[in-house]
Amino acid sequence: KMPEMIQLVIFGGTGDLSRSKLIPGLYKLYKRNSLPDQLSILGLARSFSSRKAYLQSLEQSLKEENPEIYTKESWNNFKEYLDYLQMDFTEDIGYNKLYHHLNDQEGNQAGRHCIYYLATAPEFFPMITENLKEHRLSKSREPGWPRLVIEKPFGYSLSSARDYNSQICQVFPEENVYRIDHYLGKEMIQNILTMRFANMFFEPIWNKHYIDNIQIVSTETSGIKTRGKYYDNAGALRDMVQSHLLQMLALITMESPADMSTESIRQEKIKLLKTLADSPSLGDLRDNLVIGQYKSGIIGDRTVPGYQDEDNIASNSRTETFAAVKLNINNLRWRGVPFYLKTGKRLHKKSAKIYVQFKDDFHPALSKDKNPEANLLIIKIQPEEGVSMQFNAKEPGSQDKITSVFMDFCQQAPDLQNTPEAYEELLLALFKGDQSLFTHWDGVKNSWLYIDKLRDYIEANRLEPEKYNPGSNGPTSSEEMLNRDGRRWWDEE
Ligand code: BG6
Repeated sequence: KMPEMIQLVIFGGTGDLSRSKLIPGLYKLYKRNSLPDQLSILGLARSFSSRKAYLQSLEQSLKEENPEIYTKESWNNFKEYLDYLQMDFTEDIGYNKLYHHLNDQEGNQAGRHCIYYLATAPEFFPMITENLKEHRLSKSREPGWPRLVIEKPFGYSLSSARDYNSQICQVFPEENVYRIDHYLGKEMIQNILTMRFANMFFEPIWNKHYIDNIQIVSTETSGIKTRGKYYDNAGALRDMVQSHLLQMLALITMESPADMSTESIRQEKIKLLKTLADSPSLGDLRDNLVIGQYKSGIIGDRTVPGYQDEDNIASNSRTETFAAVKLNINNLRWRGVPFYLKTGKRLHKKSAKIYVQFKDDFHPALSKDKNPEANLLIIKIQPEEGVSMQFNAKEPGSQDKITSVFMDFCQQAPDLQNTPEAYEELLLALFKGDQSLFTHWDGVKNSWLYIDKLRDYIEANRLEPEKYNPGSNGPTSSEEMLNRDGRRWWDEE
């Protein structure tokens, strides 16, 4: 149930994330009539001296980045929800201002729920939460509950994540901490458990006896844009695999939960990620990990810079913009089944899909020379949303030819490229207090354990990322990794 009075406080109110995801997400919720009755959104930032200037700048961004949803009239109505406070969150005095600002507001005392949204770099999380505590802003006021929302990346390794977490948890208990992984807000990712457990024909064959391999792929055409400073310390393993790809993996492979409550689902995901962290690969990591970095090149009629020439990137940077890994889940259901994960920037297409390839133990008379194709189940996350099944059928009119056919379920076909849709879902869940779309510390911890093993291997062996052309499929070693296993990536034509 949605509480009536919510005070949303955004740290980093003028940052990239607020402009491109949060404000558009809130604006769309407003247009859908889905905002809480009494919501007040307070943006905090240093740069603007007045609410008016702040609102103008947000409006400008919305117009530019999301022209299809912007109208002057609805913006004018929506902006009534928005307030602004000029504040430097690294300074003590700012929190005093914030305290008074919140307390001066009508209706703040009784039953107003406060949500602090940290749309800032993770190194500020402990400092901000500590200050919220010092200034009595994190105190629970019945029936209100202060909640804390934190964006990824949550740390750069297990040890930094653990430090941040222990400091945050001294102020906010786990049940009030909402860690964002925006992939969990995507429609088809939310659909995975329903598909698996509300259909008779998936669960019985969802195991090593019937599944040959699973591929989880999220590729992008864009480069690192203006995020050089952040990205050069992160790289694809930390930026995408640790969070989005492992969350997808957990949902696809976890055991059946006792019920569909947040707690039960989280427990199963955590167990799965722990199994992964305990025994990450099917052999030597040398054969199971490929990292790459994009070169400069031509895409369409445009020359794009190589990674090392991007702003704020060292000219000898070894940061990976591409990663492909083969991993193992050592439990009864999955032992021996390879899972291939792949992600990268400046690749041939923007797409996220999960490919479940079944074994090809067909009737001997129908295999070999008839060349039947693999049975594939494709969960399409973006840009299209839906499910597609590839299977074999007789070619119409022929006696014995086999042809592969597709059965498609299309959820919807909006034109979405990194749209705020996922954020709308996450914001709604946040207002309602539904933590199922947010990650639990134990899951994050186990994901870092796994990523740390890969990173340690890279550092210990001074692994150099393999250069690849923009607009390509990435490093050739990634194809070779699958070819060695007699397989291929299904996203590559
Ligand atoms: C973010 C990463 O979490 O996800 C970005 O930090 C990446 O580097 C983005 O571009 C991809 O999200 P989406 O929704 O466009 O697939």
